[in-house]
Amino acid sequence: MTNTTHSQLVNVFYDTHPISESQVLDKLAQNGIDTSNLTVELLQQHDQDHFGGLTATDALAHHAHINESTHVLDLCCGLGGPARYLAYHYGCRVTGVDMNTDRLAGAVRLTEKTKLQDRVLFHHADALQTGLTDGAFDVIVSQEAFCHIPDKKTLITECARLLKTGGRIVYTDILARNPMTREIRSRLENEMTFSELSTLEEYCHLLEENGCQVIEVEDLSDDWAQILIDRLAMYRSLKEQTVSSFGLAHFQKWDRTYSFFVGLYRSGELGGGRFVAHKLESI
Ligand SMILES: C[S@@+](CC[C@H](N)C(=O)[O-])C[C@H]1O[C@@H](n2cnc3c(N)ncnc32)[C@H](O)[C@@H]1O
Repeated sequence: MTNTTHSQLVNVFYDTHPISESQVLDKLAQNGIDTSNLTVELLQQHDQDHFGGLTATDALAHHAHINESTHVLDLCCGLGGPARYLAYHYGCRVTGVDMNTDRLAGAVRLTEKTKLQDRVLFHHADALQTGLTDGAFDVIVSQEAFCHIPDKKTLITECARLLKTGGRIVYTDILARNPMTREIRSRLENEMTFSELSTLEEYCHLLEENGCQVIEVEDLSDDWAQILIDRLAMYRSLKEQTVSSFGLAHFQKWDRTYSFFVGLYRSGELGGGRFVAHKLESI
């Protein structure tokens, strides 16, 4: 399978994802909120597409020492929920990068509604080749997105290129733990567009190879096993909206796939990790 085909599949996956700009706005409208004029506090309950919610984003901010003078790159930012959250609560500037055109357009519109567009900017690009300037960022954050990118070596090299010397890369990702059968690997690729999942050790090696010293690694697998059970329940609670946007068959397929994915945490095939590293030298 070529990279182009894989990227197209990832784009389709997110074009038909239960969490979307319209789903977030509908949810707020159902709660009687005027969606023409939003605050980050209102949006942040609905616009985060990663595991562990706002607590997980706070943990990244803490490990990255984010403050008012930090320029953050949120790589694979989706609808921009964490980017807005970090800018609003920590006072930093954030650039969000994502390759999905519709999600990025949604991120721009939601950010304008919160009037944060001066501090939260978005850039349409593939994370493997962002086109952004060398050493432009103090911090890179990412949450549950690198799993979609098969070429982890190029990805981490691009991250190291974008970081200032002394800057921090802090991210969480879905990890392979036990060796997986070909059938499991192929279902994860075809149904979730997760390809070539890394192990904890492989990421540490790649970071070190690219001039980044690993400061801390946390195995989040046990926490995520429970978080994902809750997340499946959350997706089920969105049934009506998912069916109305994409049809019943799509909802049922999503539900089957997500149940399979959650099961892989229970059986120990999949895990999760948080990586904190800093760039030692220009490469
Ligand atoms: C699970 S969402 C995470 C969004 C965001 N981090 C959050 O927590 O709300 C993963 C995002 O990664 C993006 N993505 C996947 N592969 C990418 C790539 N190669 N380059 C840029 N974005 C990518 C998808 O378009 C999607 O928006």
